[in-house]
Amino acid sequence: MDTDRRSLLLAGFYRSLLRLSRWKRDLRLITRLALEVFVATGTHTKSINQHYGRSNLTATILDSLRAAGKDLDRLTHEALAPVDQFHTRGKPATAELAHLAKLQPGQRVLDVGGGLGGAARTLAAEFGCDVTVLDLTEAYCRAGELLTEQTGLSAQVRFQTGNALAMPFADGEFDVVWSQHSSMNIEDKERLYAEMRRVLKPGGRLALHEIMAGPVQPLYFPVPWAPDPAISFLRTPEVMRTTIRQAGFDELVWVDRSQQSLDWFRTRTVMAGAAPPLGLHLLLGDLFVPAFRNQVQNLAEDRVRIIQAIYART
Ligand SMILES: C[S@@+](CC[C@H](N)C(=O)[O-])C[C@H]1O[C@@H](n2cnc3c(N)ncnc32)[C@H](O)[C@@H]1O
Repeated sequence: MDTDRRSLLLAGFYRSLLRLSRWKRDLRLITRLALEVFVATGTHTKSINQHYGRSNLTATILDSLRAAGKDLDRLTHEALAPVDQFHTRGKPATAELAHLAKLQPGQRVLDVGGGLGGAARTLAAEFGCDVTVLDLTEAYCRAGELLTEQTGLSAQVRFQTGNALAMPFADGEFDVVWSQHSSMNIEDKERLYAEMRRVLKPGGRLALHEIMAGPVQPLYFPVPWAPDPAISFLRTPEVMRTTIRQAGFDELVWVDRSQQSLDWFRTRTVMAGAAPPLGLHLLLGDLFVPAFRNQVQNLAEDRVRIIQAIYART
């Protein structure tokens, strides 16, 4: 075969290879998009955004901070704690979980369903971590970004609106995956923990503070995470342990915080009549009083359990 003909054949061969690799890349992209659409339709995104995403959320929080006598030019993450830690027992529970997880300065943490970013700012300011918040509720991410700017923590804390079931992150990006009161709205927990494992480095830690189903059912609604059962998906601690282990995690710590949580809800419910300007009522609106009352009953009657746990990625 002459040289010209060989060069032509080689050029044709490379062109075909290029086309094939582009086609494979396109196919990967189409598959990923189809998966995201499929996952999004099973996520109740609209109802979750409706439940959490109050209109004028940022303005409401800033007005309440002023009413509470806070200087917005010198805002600290501690000052925000009554409103930005949307989980049982607030900021002390965040610090408690961080100690259980043995967080180290410089670690890259992903806060899944991180809401307004209260935990993220605490982990950045007090534990020296670099934190990414992923949350489905756009209004929380926008308000969270502004509060982070006001507290001077933007270099260490960033927000990404997105779905925990199709995380927009590469494999092995994080040292720690963190989740406080975020799994209750997510039905497909197999996929949730598989995604959490995927974005963790080998040996990385999973830190959980979650609400689970008690042995007595059903729940009294509304609850702080749902107005009705349509977006509430709790599993019992036994089933959750199996689900997480089967996703590829080893259990290191498991602590039942239900009694302390009941005491906390009882105190908050008694105080509800004279709520201070800054508090979780800003996030829950009219649902605040019935949802907190129902949580007292749900915990007292063993309808829900509240657990903190640490896992290692196998
Ligand atoms: C009760 S809040 C807890 C917020 C935060 N972890 C905290 O403790 O302050 C539950 C959060 O989970 C988020 N969430 C629910 N389903 C989600 C999903 N599929 N992907 C990402 N975030 C989700 C909600 O938008 C909400 O911000």
